[in-house]
Amino acid sequence: FKTLDDLQAKGKKVLLRADLNVPVRDGKITDQTRLERLVPTLEELSKKGAQVIVISHFARPKGQKVPEMSLKPVSEALGKLISGKAKVSFAEDCIGPIAEQAVKAMHDGDILVLENTRFYAGEEKNDPELAKKMAALADIYVNDAFSAAHRAHASTEGVTHFLPAYAGRLMEAELNALSLALEKPEKPVGAIVGGSKISTKLDLLGNLVSKVDVLVIGGAMANTFLAAKGVSVGKSLQEADMHDTAKAIMKEADAKKCEIVLPVDVVVATEFKENVPTQTVSVEAIPANAMALDVGPKTVQLLEQKIATLKTLVWNGPLGAFEVKPFDGGTNAVAHTVASLTQAHKLKSVAGGGDTVSALRHAGVIDKMSYVSTAGGAFLEWLEGKELPGIKALTQ
Ligand code: 3PG
Repeated sequence: FKTLDDLQAKGKKVLLRADLNVPVRDGKITDQTRLERLVPTLEELSKKGAQVIVISHFARPKGQKVPEMSLKPVSEALGKLISGKAKVSFAEDCIGPIAEQAVKAMHDGDILVLENTRFYAGEEKNDPELAKKMAALADIYVNDAFSAAHRAHASTEGVTHFLPAYAGRLMEAELNALSLALEKPEKPVGAIVGGSKISTKLDLLGNLVSKVDVLVIGGAMANTFLAAKGVSVGKSLQEADMHDTAKAIMKEADAKKCEIVLPVDVVVATEFKENVPTQTVSVEAIPANAMALDVGPKTVQLLEQKIATLKTLVWNGPLGAFEVKPFDGGTNAVAHTVASLTQAHKLKSVAGGGDTVSALRHAGVIDKMSYVSTAGGAFLEWLEGKELPGIKALTQ
């Protein structure tokens, strides 16, 4: 695909698909990472003299103009992050006369954010009419929204049928990091997959066993694997109907010479609450009335030994119920090991997926990984080995 290096930006109107879908609580943005990571592309285009028209979805308004889902406050937050002379303004529509007039008033270097593309039902339906109207505002399309690339929507896929398409700097960085992690990794390569359900990560596990040398399984998902192996997991969260699937994954891993690493000890409690009394037990000794909520110290040690043998590590999903103390212990400890190996240039570490990013931030190591993806669902689909429509559209 083509990048900003191939683009003559001066005086051009550039339609920039960003992902401004930031988390908001009580009307306040709780995490600006996606905005911060977009700044290099915005500043580069602006400095090169392009007129930058930013389009994005925000939340899920389902084709309705929901005022609480306006991009205006996000556009203001973005404006504060842009240094230099570039002016960031906002238009209350992404097509039609309001958008057209705002675009007409732009000067070289200006940045204009348009209203939520999902205010139109055609966005998610990938309606060519909507895509055509958005495309008509500009000369060139740049996609910098890797985290929305798993959606075949008008603003991610449709517009590429009407405008020459390029990848922005964030898109480039995401794709390079992901390719170094799984397509052309330095071996041995390992993955940590955590989270609660095998059922949501089936394709991902299936793809990873044929790509990695070591697959660490943590979180409640590990309970299902342990139970499938005949271990009594007490009241631990698990998917009883997934035992055969778990066995099939283990068999496939064997055939592909992928070593699956499961917890050997766990931190258990009789209820899931902050600061409840806990016990650390071997996985063979989980009491019938207790549930496993984190990996134990022997597992942490085992994982540290395994990770020390790797050159590349992909991380998706926490090892325990890290949102509630003290069940963040295992994830924190392993996160610190990954961070120090990365900082010592012994390991390339790539992490992604919503929960993973919060867990690493919680552990205080978010800046110490080789790469942290801004994507949630798109990162998962990429780990599943799927072709992402937003990426495919850039390569055609
Ligand atoms: C995300 O936050 O993962 C992306 O912005 C996509 O959002 P969506 O799941 O609402 O399509």
